[in-house]
Amino acid sequence: MSQRIPVIVLGGTGYVAGELARLVLGHPGLELAAVASDSQPGESVAGAFPHLAPALGDLAFCPQDDAAALAARLPRSAVLAAAPHGVSAALIDALLSRAEAAGSHPTVVDISADYRFADPGAYAAVYGHGHGAPARQPQFSCAVPEHLAAVKTPHVAHPGCFSTATLLATVPLLALGLIEPRVFVSAVTGSTGAGRKPGPGTHHPQRHSDLYSYNGLAHRHGPEIAALAQAATGVAADIAFVPHSGPFARGIHATVQATLARPMQTADVIDALRQFYAGRPFVRVLDAPPRVKDVVTSNYAHLSAVADGRTVAVMSVIDNLVKGAAGGGVQWMNRLLGFEETAGLTAPAPGWT
Ligand SMILES: NC(=O)c1ccc[n+]([C@@H]2O[C@H](COP(=O)([O-])OP(=O)(O)OC[C@H]3O[C@@H](n4cnc5c(N)ncnc54)[C@H](OP(=O)(O)O)[C@@H]3O)[C@@H](O)[C@H]2O)c1
Repeated sequence: MSQRIPVIVLGGTGYVAGELARLVLGHPGLELAAVASDSQPGESVAGAFPHLAPALGDLAFCPQDDAAALAARLPRSAVLAAAPHGVSAALIDALLSRAEAAGSHPTVVDISADYRFADPGAYAAVYGHGHGAPARQPQFSCAVPEHLAAVKTPHVAHPGCFSTATLLATVPLLALGLIEPRVFVSAVTGSTGAGRKPGPGTHHPQRHSDLYSYNGLAHRHGPEIAALAQAATGVAADIAFVPHSGPFARGIHATVQATLARPMQTADVIDALRQFYAGRPFVRVLDAPPRVKDVVTSNYAHLSAVADGRTVAVMSVIDNLVKGAAGGGVQWMNRLLGFEETAGLTAPAPGWT
């Protein structure tokens, strides 16, 4: 019998759920036990993710209720959740309540925004609706894995993709006291950041061969980045965040600029970033500007920086669906389950996607 830990994926036919399934199928210590879907229960999972067909066999999507019943039956399981925000909190709460009533204690990593804020009021202020399961919020920590050494909660919420790219650049600058606490972020995402369902503003034909900003200084990830930067560093920084749509499907490029607290040059900042991320295998600090293609489909983040004595700019690239979502989620799950943090995640980017 397999000693692998069974994994239940929530988020069905979504892009992140597909990436979670792909990563779990290649993981040495996990096995894909179920993928729950609202819209396609009973349908073949390979129908939604044909690229995974060779590894999926005849696995069919299950209803949410079956996923909760499975979590209740299994003495030990991992739940990787990628449902939409506003939905995820209640789905996870229902699954955990049923499992706990049966004496089971699944470990959850949520990739939606629902458990990223510790406080229900902060969540409601950003999302404009009440939290779906406020009593569960204290059971979740939220941080980029590289920024939280010890987790004291049973479950984790992974920060969003824009937040991950921005925080990887911002947190060292604040934690080391290198900058004034006023940070300007310009970040560009690929079209998969908007999920599978096309909308007038998010459909790839509208986005390819074009570049434009949206929700400048008013995007929901602005307050999330500020709250998570403060949690990681203790510094209350002002974050001015302007997201952009880029002409590619996968990846994020974030440029973080700030005024230096003391005169530093490019080599000084690069050296400080290298020291900050020493021993963190997924974060690589380069001398040259990082490129999206070098990380796409991988769990690696590449950073670099320039400084002119007065101003610093740190450039950060990640894959939005992997390091910014499914890969970061598996990285957290590895830690929560006691695996090597890198298990199943070390494949480099193909480079020519
Ligand atoms: N895309 C990214 O780059 C990215 C990065 C970081 C975090 N995230 C977060 O990850 C989550 C998933 O993102 P995504 O890009 O995969 O979105 P997506 O492609 O739109 O997929 C979301 C999936 O959730 C399921 N769903 C929709 N409504 C539901 C409901 N009422 N109850 C239960 N399930 C429902 C749907 O699958 P079924 O109909 O099959 O159930 C849908 O395909 C979101 O919370 C998103 O904010 C996304």
